Amino acid sequence: MGGAEACLIDAVAVLRQARPGWPIAVVLGEDGPLAKRARDYDAEVHVLPFSRELARLGDSGEGGLGSLAARLASTAPSALRYRFQLHSLLGRIKPDLIHTNGFKMHVLGALAKPLGSALVWHIHDYVSSRALMAKLMRRLASLTDAIITNSQHVADDTREVVGASTNIVPILNVVDLKEFTPDGPRLDLDRLSGLISAPEGTVRVGLIATLAWWKGHRLFLQGLAGVDPKHAVRGYYIGGALYQTQSQSSLGDLRSAARELGIGERVGFTGIVSEPAAAFRALDVVVHSSTEPEPFGRVIVEAAACGKPVITTALGGAAEILSFGDFALKIDPRRPDLLAASISKLAANPDLRQTLGSNGLSTARRHFGRERLARELPAVYEEALSRVHGAKFTRSAEA
Ligand code: GLC
Repeated sequence: MGGAEACLIDAVAVLRQARPGWPIAVVLGEDGPLAKRARDYDAEVHVLPFSRELARLGDSGEGGLGSLAARLASTAPSALRYRFQLHSLLGRIKPDLIHTNGFKMHVLGALAKPLGSALVWHIHDYVSSRALMAKLMRRLASLTDAIITNSQHVADDTREVVGASTNIVPILNVVDLKEFTPDGPRLDLDRLSGLISAPEGTVRVGLIATLAWWKGHRLFLQGLAGVDPKHAVRGYYIGGALYQTQSQSSLGDLRSAARELGIGERVGFTGIVSEPAAAFRALDVVVHSSTEPEPFGRVIVEAAACGKPVITTALGGAAEILSFGDFALKIDPRRPDLLAASISKLAANPDLRQTLGSNGLSTARRHFGRERLARELPAVYEEALSRVHGAKFTRSAEA
């Protein structure tokens, strides 16, 4: 699952607990781990498959309006079909409130929503850099009753696109502190990467990210290449192609880049893992090397909750997370040499790793547990519901 999908599960989990009387239906474009996790929380899951063209239309910021418009034109028939199917499904579910979780669904949800359903967009990425999406969302924002964003940065960006009159509420993401813990099973990263086991005492440094180019895989590899071989360090890229959109690097390119940098033997590529917490636990240092502002940076909080020190470029939402505690070293995204120096510093200093790791753990426990979302999310929903349905859904009316 990607970060936004994990957030959706957090939302389902906290609602299930905070508002047990509310039935939850989850509509997805494909079956898979997300559907399974939603069912585990007793949500009723409906899979309405995306066509191939619709699945591919997405997060790319490249190409400008022209090429995106061309792609949209070729997608239009299946988008219209999807809107029709979604409208009839929603007509059967009759939701009091619809929460959409990704750009395509923000647009399709607004176009397909039945009369009388409140609409909440949960925005996980910057809108302004996506020319076509920004245009569509600007037009449709008046159909929403609230917009949640995953950081203040994304809230500011969204406000620029949709205007000041829309109700925008930043809610920083949370993680499941029962899943992301320092203790528990650890993945064998060497075996997963097809490498021989690293000798005892090797410091394992990992980047966990999708293949989107701006996650900074190359910066990560360059940083590793700059580490003096006197430090026993092994790097791991944990992840792969998660979305069928086009802003992806390829795993093959990254492997060749590692070989060209002379670190083919010092870096492993595990592929996508289904237990991220067990991957974090297997690492000594987590690198978050996004070279563009990160909308939120969920990986940083997950690493902290597992008690791991983080090295980050601290751009966008990542800077907001860091304002809650002292558990990370910050680097300039244009300076692979500084990443190499930070890795070396942590590799040589187990006490510093330990101090940052335990600061991260207490920061995650204090500020990023699901109990915060259990307060903040229902409050936004109830306000949106009261806009549409009057006082029917306020807590006092429920009581
Ligand atoms: C998106 C963002 C990431 C964020 C996640 C969850 O994937 O790129 O920064 O952590 O959504 O909100």
